[in-house]
Amino acid sequence: MIKLVATDLKMQFEHRTLFEAKHLHFCQGDVVHLRGDNGSGKSTLMKILAGIQTPTQGKIEAQGFQPGPWWRSDSLLGKALYLHQHPYLYDGSVEYNMTYALPAPLREQPDIKQRISESILHAELGHLLQQNATLLSGGERQRLAIARAYIMQPKLLMLDEPTSNMDKDSQQLVLNMIAKLKHQGTGLLISSHQSCELTQLCHQEWKIAQQQITTSANVTSSYQPLSTIASSQSEQTKQEQQYVSAN
Ligand SMILES: Nc1ncnc2c1ncn2[C@@H]1O[C@H](COP(=O)(O)OP(=O)(O)OP(=O)(O)O)[C@@H](O)[C@H]1O
Ligand SMILES: [Mg+2]
Repeated sequence: MIKLVATDLKMQFEHRTLFEAKHLHFCQGDVVHLRGDNGSGKSTLMKILAGIQTPTQGKIEAQGFQPGPWWRSDSLLGKALYLHQHPYLYDGSVEYNMTYALPAPLREQPDIKQRISESILHAELGHLLQQNATLLSGGERQRLAIARAYIMQPKLLMLDEPTSNMDKDSQQLVLNMIAKLKHQGTGLLISSHQSCELTQLCHQEWKIAQQQITTSANVTSSYQPLSTIASSQSEQTKQEQQYVSAN
């Protein structure tokens, strides 16, 4: 079983304790809503679990992953993919970000073209393929970042406020993509300070309040995402169809 296990975790900035947690585990197949007020530490916790930031105290173990190269064998980096609240994109076209800017081993996988085509369809980015990614709106950037995650198919994915900045239609697209990742068994940790359709996909909740992270099981929602994916696929744009047939 692929998982991250955090024990005796504590994060402080100078003398301010942000949060503590005795034990957290995030596994493939988990779909967790991470909630907490603004400034409670949701993004910081995700960055710690992604190996981007070091906690003040505690141990985080990655279990069940394929051994990496020796110089990264102890590193958490790359184990769980963290999608930033304000995604970083490469200076190049949307198409470039979704193809050449992917990690090299991934570009060599046999089904990569199919996954790229699917992600363009699901994120409805076909009409923006030639636009410079740095010129995208906030919502479009997040759609592109999630489309990239969809292509990369990580075992564990952390999404930081993935539908902030988004109108209803974009929210629905992202919801469908995340539901598809859930269906494929990707472990998902989704931060959002409020409950919404997206958090209805979750069956666990982690809450940061009064400097403590508490975990609880949540009621599973009856939301059925895959039918909406089918309908959005049938409404693909001409550019998307062209991309798929050309590749
Ligand atoms: N490097 C740092 N040095 C000092 N304080 C920091 C640092 N990084 C974050 N903080 C503080 O830690 C707190 C938690 O930040 P974080 O971004 O994790 O909160 P959040 O729960 O994600 O908030 P939001 O809901 O607004 O996204 C904030 O008060 C922030 O100012
Ligand atoms: Mg945040």
